[in-house]
Amino acid sequence: MISKATIDTVFETARLEEVIGDFVQLKRAGSNLKGLSPFSNERSPSFMVSPVKQIWKDFSSGKGGNVVAFLMEHEHFTYPEAIRYLAKKYNIEIEETLKTDEEKAALDNRESMFLVSEYAQKYFHDILLNSEEGRAIGLSYFKERGFKRETIEKFALGYSPEIWDAFSKEALGKGYKLQFLGSTGLTIVREDGRTVDRFRHRVMFPIQSMSGRVLGFGGRILTNDKKVAKYLNSPESEIYHKSKVLYGIFQAKQAIAKLDNCYLVEGYTDVIQLHQAGIENVVSSSGTALTPDQIRLISRLTKNITVLFDGDAAGLRASIRGIDLILEEGMNVKVCTFPEGDDPDSFARKTPHGELVDYLENNAKDFIQFKAGLLVDEAQNDPVKKAGLIRDMVTSISKIPDRIQREIYIQECSRIMDISEQVLISTLAQLVQKDIDDAGKKLKAEQKDKAFEVVRPDSEEVQQKVDVLYELERKILEILLLYGHKVEEFDDVVFETNEEGEIKEIGIKREAKVLDRIFLSLQEDETELANPLFKGIFDNLMAYCQHNEEFVVDQYMAQLPPEFAPEVTDILMVDEREQLHNWESQNIVVKLKDQSIAQYVSETILTLRWFLVDRIINDLKNELSRETDADNSEVLSMAMDYYALIGSFSKKLGRVMTRYS
Ligand code: CTP
Ligand code: MN
Repeated sequence: MISKATIDTVFETARLEEVIGDFVQLKRAGSNLKGLSPFSNERSPSFMVSPVKQIWKDFSSGKGGNVVAFLMEHEHFTYPEAIRYLAKKYNIEIEETLKTDEEKAALDNRESMFLVSEYAQKYFHDILLNSEEGRAIGLSYFKERGFKRETIEKFALGYSPEIWDAFSKEALGKGYKLQFLGSTGLTIVREDGRTVDRFRHRVMFPIQSMSGRVLGFGGRILTNDKKVAKYLNSPESEIYHKSKVLYGIFQAKQAIAKLDNCYLVEGYTDVIQLHQAGIENVVSSSGTALTPDQIRLISRLTKNITVLFDGDAAGLRASIRGIDLILEEGMNVKVCTFPEGDDPDSFARKTPHGELVDYLENNAKDFIQFKAGLLVDEAQNDPVKKAGLIRDMVTSISKIPDRIQREIYIQECSRIMDISEQVLISTLAQLVQKDIDDAGKKLKAEQKDKAFEVVRPDSEEVQQKVDVLYELERKILEILLLYGHKVEEFDDVVFETNEEGEIKEIGIKREAKVLDRIFLSLQEDETELANPLFKGIFDNLMAYCQHNEEFVVDQYMAQLPPEFAPEVTDILMVDEREQLHNWESQNIVVKLKDQSIAQYVSETILTLRWFLVDRIINDLKNELSRETDADNSEVLSMAMDYYALIGSFSKKLGRVMTRYS
C-alpha cells in the first residue's frame, strides 16, 4: 500500500492543469482553462479545468473531479495506479506502508515474474527485428500476413529462435533468476536439471494487462500444419490467469471507452488485423467463451459489446450459448457475422477502412433479435422444437437485469417468433419466480451461517414501541449535526484490475466530508427521509452547508427556522460518546467497538437503505398474495430486482440482515 504521506505529497505537488495538459489541449478562458472533451466527440469546447479549485468538469459527459479522478476516467487507472503515475511524473518517491514478510515476499515474487516477462517480451521483439533468423522467418511471416511495421511495434510482437535454450541462456546471463523463469513458464526445467525454452521457433504474441504489463505469451507455429497445435500459450501462473485476461485490452481501452462499444473476436490475429484496419476497439478472449471476469473487464469501459463471428455456421450455435452470460452482466450485446469462409482477420485485410466500418455498423444485429431469427429458421414447422426454443429465448431475456429492456425484448420476440406476448410473459414469470425462490433459499442459508448483528428485541411489547425508520432517520440527523463537517476516510468499493488483469472488488479509502458522503449515499437510490420534520431539518442543513464552509453552531442556529429548533438542540446537546452508544437502548445493536465515524456512517446509511427496500419487497409480496390469478410477471420481476439490491447491501455490510418487522 502507498503510504498516506506519499498520497498527500502527490496531491500537494500535482498540478491538475499540467496533468490534464498532457492529454488535452487547453486554452485560457478567464481564470479557467478550456478544451475539447476527451470523453466524447463534441466539436466545441465543453471541458473546463479550474487551476484555482484544482477540479475539472466535462460538460458533455457529465464527468468531473480532481486530478486522480481525471486519470481514473481517462487512462482507466485504478486509484493506486493514478497515484503512482503522478508520483512518477513529479519525481516523488513512493513510500510503501509496511507489510508482513509474507506479503512482501508474495509481492516481490510477482514483481520478479513481471520483470522476467517484460524482459522476455523485449528479447523476442529484438530477435524478430534484429537477428538474421528472426527477420528471415518471423518478420517475413508477419509481412506475409500483412502486418505493418507500426502494428508489429504496437503489439510488441516477437520471435523465439529455434535453438532449444537461446532465451533461457540469455536471461540467466543477464541475471534473471531461474526460479522466475520457471514460474512464468518461459523456461522448462527438466528432471535431469537441464533447461529448455518453452517457446521455440514461433512468432510471439505478448499478452498484456489493462495497464500494459506483460503477463504471458502466445506463440504460433509458422506453418499451417493441422496436426500440430497452432498456439502454445504461457501456463497459468501467479501473474497470468487466462480467464481474467483479454488480449488487446491495453491497446484498445481508450477506443472502447471513447466509442462506447467493444468488438469481441476469437483470436490474436483478428485483433491485430482489425486494429491495423483502423478498428481499434477490439479485444479477444483467446479462443474461449467469455468469462464473467473478462466481461467485467470490458464493463469498466463500456456497456456495449459486439461479438464478431466467423463465417462458418458450425461455431455459431456453440458460441451463442455463452452470450447469455454477457446479458447477465447487464451488457447490451450485438452480434455480427461475416460472409461464409471469412473471419474478422481475412475480412479486415481485404476491405477498405470505410467499407469495413459500414459493414460492421450495418450488420451488427441486436443479440436477442438475432437469436430469435435464428431459432425461427430452425424450428419452422416443428411445434415441439419450437416450444423448447421459446423457453430458450425467454431464458436469455430473463438474464437481462433491466426491467424495461426485458419488456421491449418480449415485444420484439413476440413479433419475430410469431407468438403472443402473453405466452412469453407467463414463461418469463415462471423463470423469474424460480429465480426468486432460489434467491430466497440462498439468503436463508446465508442467514444460518452468519451471526446476525442487528438483533430483534425479545418481547413483542418492546418491538412495538420501536419505530425503526424513525430511529434510523434520527440517527442520520445526529451524525450530520455532530460529525457532518468532519472529513473522514471512507471505505469504498471499486472494481480494480491488478497487474495480471484479475478483477477484484477492492476496498479503497476515500476522504470525504461526512455530510457529502451521506448526501450522496441517499441520492444513490433516491432515498428521502420519510419523517417530514427530519426531512425539513435535513434540507435546511444541506442548504446551510452549501453557503458556509464551516459549521459554526451559533451561526447555524441563528438561521434555523424555529420549528426545527427543539429537535436540533436536543441532538446537539447530547454528548457524542453517548450518541454512539445510544444504539443499544434502541434495540438496534450495531457493533461500535473499534468502529470509526466513517464505518458508523456507512453502516447507518446502508441499514436505512436496506430497511426501505425491505419494506418495498414486503409490499410487493402482499400484492402477490392478494391477486392470485392476475398477471404477476411485472411484480415478480420487480421483487427480483429488489432482492438483488438487498443482497448487495448485506454484502457491503459484511453480514446478513433479517427483518425487524
Ligand atoms: N488458440 C489457442 N491454442 C490453439 C488454438 C487457438 O490458444 N491451439 C487460441 C488463440 O488465442 C487464438 C484463438 O484461440 O488466437 C483463436 O484461434 P484461431 O482462430 O485458430 O487462431 P488465429 O488467432 O485466428 O490464428 P491464425 O489466423 O493464425 O490461424
Ligand atoms: Mn484466424
